[in-house]
Amino acid sequence: MIGIIGAMEMEVAGLIAALEEPEQAVCCGQPFTSGRLGGVPVVVAKCGAGKVNAAMCAAAMVLRYAPSLVVSTGVAGGIGPDVKIGDLVVATHAVQYDYDTTAIGEPLAAVDVGGTVMAELPTSERHNAILAQYAAEIYSGVHRGVIATGDRFVADPNFCAALREEFGAVACEMETGAIAHVCAANRTAFCGLRAISDNANDDGKVDFLTFARDSAEKCIALLKASAAALENA
Ligand code: ADE
Repeated sequence: MIGIIGAMEMEVAGLIAALEEPEQAVCCGQPFTSGRLGGVPVVVAKCGAGKVNAAMCAAAMVLRYAPSLVVSTGVAGGIGPDVKIGDLVVATHAVQYDYDTTAIGEPLAAVDVGGTVMAELPTSERHNAILAQYAAEIYSGVHRGVIATGDRFVADPNFCAALREEFGAVACEMETGAIAHVCAANRTAFCGLRAISDNANDDGKVDFLTFARDSAEKCIALLKASAAALENA
């Protein structure tokens, strides 16, 4: 089974609507719908925005459905001149940029997963390759790079520059790093897939409101197209 988590209704509604034999459940106060997507067993959850919601949802999903792969999907702010609205990002890693213990001399954004301290949270390369391949077949502007996660809607070019400088981030959003953390702790394969809705700058709010829906749909179409290949990977 593949688990798919998006924060907002628009990021998951198209997937839920496409599920055959849908079954609903609520766990930790969050809605899960399981079923088949083109014959592939899938569970889709809407977690709400932010790292705590995302982590709670991922933990509930892993415990209840035991998916072989979890995908964090939805929209993100693009970072850097090459990452444009409507582009797609497949995460090579995720970071939680606001996990910061440097004031006491500890490494920045390091997360302890079962005794392994890591700054960059892993993604599944074999599943990334499938997402990137299917993405390139239906869209232009497909990037692979670091997704930076924190509890903040970023609308500040200086903050973006810092995320790029410090983490090599190509996109920022509010859930992927938390879901990656839960998946790493549970030894569950993980992918971060995002479509760019804004450039996390002064126009971020207007762009987000204008483009988020179309961008979210791009991830949904890609997941529908690649579900069988992801399941078989
Ligand atoms: N999701 C989409 N755009 C975003 C941004 N600029 N900051 C945080 N999360 C986002």
